[in-house]
Amino acid sequence: MLNHIISMKDFSRDEIDIILSRAKEFEPVARGKRSEMLSGKILATLFYEPSTRTRMSFETAMKRLGGEVIDLGSIESSSIVKGENLADTIRVIGNYADAIALRHPREGAARMASEFSKVPIINAGDGAGHHPTQTMLDLYTIMRESSLSGLRIALVGDLKYGRTVHSLAYALSLYHADVTLVSPAQLKMPEVIKKDLKKQGAVVRETTSIEDVIGDVDVLYVTRIQKERFPDPAEYQKVAGVYRVTEELLKKACENLIIMHPLPRVDEIDPAVDKTRFARYFEQSFYGVPVRMALLAMAMETV
Ligand code: NCD
Repeated sequence: MLNHIISMKDFSRDEIDIILSRAKEFEPVARGKRSEMLSGKILATLFYEPSTRTRMSFETAMKRLGGEVIDLGSIESSSIVKGENLADTIRVIGNYADAIALRHPREGAARMASEFSKVPIINAGDGAGHHPTQTMLDLYTIMRESSLSGLRIALVGDLKYGRTVHSLAYALSLYHADVTLVSPAQLKMPEVIKKDLKKQGAVVRETTSIEDVIGDVDVLYVTRIQKERFPDPAEYQKVAGVYRVTEELLKKACENLIIMHPLPRVDEIDPAVDKTRFARYFEQSFYGVPVRMALLAMAMETV
């Protein structure tokens, strides 16, 4: 069995805990200590959608572990424009690399790719579907900067199209977190995910207002409205800018609140918040490196 990383639904809490504790061991390497653990290994990055953090933190993780990265580059400069399908592209890249990090606009693409691949597929985001490696780093951030036990968390913003919150919601149910979903009515968490969460015994509340929850949560997880996923630009305009976290709003926050965001942010967090004691989104983006080290080591079976 290959160690594909496709969805948080495939992980038990014990497996996640092992990954988080391995990530902790990798933190010094993420900060620059030399390691050759993945020497001789090659990761291929195959991104059909834009990315800054995910692609670059995978690359950093691989290189700081002594491994190498090959990157497809822009889709326009690859044979994909000649009409090559995903299955063939995956079959070919599997001849070159020891694992493939794939980001694709179509939901289910990573799962489909795993059926054709002879090397592990790491889902780096499949449309509005899942983003499991982001969730691992989100959990790690909570573990390092707050606490996963007795956690009260609000997921804010685009819960309909946001893949980070879909994956995170599944994982939070394994930690019995108290989850409040905050979104405009048009961008609610899909029913199928809520049903799954309830089946796992999670208590999930919903509201449209951050003010309702800001005084009662340990983590405020803010997301961008996913403009590119709206079938109709006019619909996006109706919800653009609905939430904005400001210093004023934070006057009502719990003493130990932390604010997270998978980034990129557009206008949902006022830059003035960056210097407050609440902000953790830039630390969060750093934690992507040790967490992806742990995931790469697992996928490539070196630990
Ligand atoms: C997220 C994504 O691509 O889903 N970004 C990321 O990987 N850090 C969030 C987003 O694009 O809004």
